[in-house]
Amino acid sequence: MLRTVLALFLFTTSSTVTIAQNYDESKVPSYVLPEVLKTVSGKEVRDRKTWEATRRPEILRLFEDHIYGRMPAAFDSISHSITNENRKAMGGNATLKEVAILVYKNSKSVRINLVLFIPNKRKGKSPVFVLINNRGQENTDATRQTKSEFWPAEMVIDSGYAIAAFHVSDLAPDKKETYMNGVLRMYPELLEADNGMKAIGAWAWGASRVLDYFEKDAQIDAKKVIVVGHSRGGKASLWAAAQDQRFAACVTNCSGNTGAALARRQFGERIARINDTFPHWFNNNYKKFNNNENELPVDQHMLISLIAPRPIYATNASKDLWADPTGTYLAMKHAEKVYALYGKKSKLPATPPGINQPFPKAPMAYHNREGEHNMKVYDWTNFIRFAKSFNF
Ligand code: GCU
Repeated sequence: MLRTVLALFLFTTSSTVTIAQNYDESKVPSYVLPEVLKTVSGKEVRDRKTWEATRRPEILRLFEDHIYGRMPAAFDSISHSITNENRKAMGGNATLKEVAILVYKNSKSVRINLVLFIPNKRKGKSPVFVLINNRGQENTDATRQTKSEFWPAEMVIDSGYAIAAFHVSDLAPDKKETYMNGVLRMYPELLEADNGMKAIGAWAWGASRVLDYFEKDAQIDAKKVIVVGHSRGGKASLWAAAQDQRFAACVTNCSGNTGAALARRQFGERIARINDTFPHWFNNNYKKFNNNENELPVDQHMLISLIAPRPIYATNASKDLWADPTGTYLAMKHAEKVYALYGKKSKLPATPPGINQPFPKAPMAYHNREGEHNMKVYDWTNFIRFAKSFNF
């Protein structure tokens, strides 16, 4: 409700946006999605080889150039230091590591502050859930004085998984005036280019640098990293998993427009609105698609396809129509054919399941939780079931 009121408020105060939100399924326009399994030159993609050699790189480039922006090609060095370690955290159940990850380029640097809890009872390396935290730092409190459903670390540790988090502001402040004061200071050429990354690209890049660290931590299984994000963080978790294939699986919670929901349905939030309110999230080229969804050479089912054959979990919340639950489900369904190229059969039903009817199984998982736009214990309980479904 709050979001609806906010949306109406923004609508009435915005100067450039001219179209109201649609929340009426009968008013969804008819649309034709770009074909995921046909190359730009018109060739049908029938096998995994052609997908990987031709179509997948093509789609990735289209998302870079038109939406999320080109990513940094390289950096000069990366190092880390453990700033705090406690082997008896959470009453002895976990080892806490606070890690400073430093990345350098052209004598500029960023510092990513990682909080990591590893279950003490697990033998061998742990699989890990890593959250791209777009909310307050208190949600991922290393001291555990503050506990939050948004990152229920104790529950995840009790289930035998490591859990980690870093904050988006370490990479790019989430403000249109200051987003460039992070990773983008190291890559001025990307800041200037119309197809260069902005904040969401920077957050996804940060997730990859955290993965670089996991590859060096003997207690973490870097081949079993599940990247998690909520809402704007869920847009970033999708983009991170799409372009960095080292992520073993992806959770995108209530990610909505320019996340897991189809743009062409024009339901709830639209491209014009997101670009108007958050001009610092996506590249300059994306602004061409304001009120012009059908001209996009991609739609969001193709972003999900880039994650195939790795497990993906998309969620919604029943009162969060802004994020278009039906459009999210359809995007997942339209990506199934790419999973099928790998012999991975999606278990998702033909039509969206009811509220609180989770399908938390690999390769494609989905639920629509009752309630508001948020990430809660209900969601995490199912993310754990999801991880167990592929034996992590
Ligand atoms: C706004 C925005 C959404 C975003 C959400 C969030 O509502 O319009 O696109 O997902 O914030 O990040 O919580």
